[in-house]
Amino acid sequence: MEPQKIFFTYNDIHRTIKNLATQIGDSGYDPQVMVAIGTGGFIPARMLKTFLEKPIYTVGIAYYDRENKPQDAPRKIQWIDEVEKKLKGKKILLVDEVDDSRATLEYCLRELLKHDPAEIAVAVLHNKKKTKRGTIPAEVDYYFSGTELEDKWICYPWDATDIDEQDKRAGVSTG
Ligand code: G4P
Ligand code: MG
Repeated sequence: MEPQKIFFTYNDIHRTIKNLATQIGDSGYDPQVMVAIGTGGFIPARMLKTFLEKPIYTVGIAYYDRENKPQDAPRKIQWIDEVEKKLKGKKILLVDEVDDSRATLEYCLRELLKHDPAEIAVAVLHNKKKTKRGTIPAEVDYYFSGTELEDKWICYPWDATDIDEQDKRAGVSTG
């Protein structure tokens, strides 16, 4: 059986981002900086910037080694220069495309918390409803998710090599 997949168009993503921006605005949380987890978080963070108008820092976290084998724990492959100066005392919004196992999110949140942010919140486009390996630390002030989804493989438009086929499949949403 082919694994079940969910396809989204760029316009779907745009609407989900707008919904996230509304949730963030309604919550009263007013972040000063975004931190995007690469590479999946890059495009969502840039789209969110249109609504929030906040600068973006980016980080790279790897969960796989060079042979593509999963590791015990995520590790940094790219981090923020002079992180302390940029994040200490600031209100941060961590942005990623999907909350899957939550392991990368937890790791990244714990690393950011070491730098004494004033407040920290997370925003993801999609949260998969499943048993999570990671947990959101208690110090995290808000958790925003655009859409709650079943545990299926999500196909994002930025991973497509044929965008017309992507749009077609998003229209019929297989699975
Ligand atoms: P989490 O804390 O955000 O749940 O991340 P987790 O470690 O579980 O995710 C490992 C990698 O798998 C991440 O990418 C994540 O984006 C990707 N991933 C998980 N579920 C899906 C899915 O349904 N669709 C797609 N397209 N990706 C998924 P990464 O290895 O960090 O790399 P990148 O793709 O973000 O560059
Ligand atoms: Mg990712």
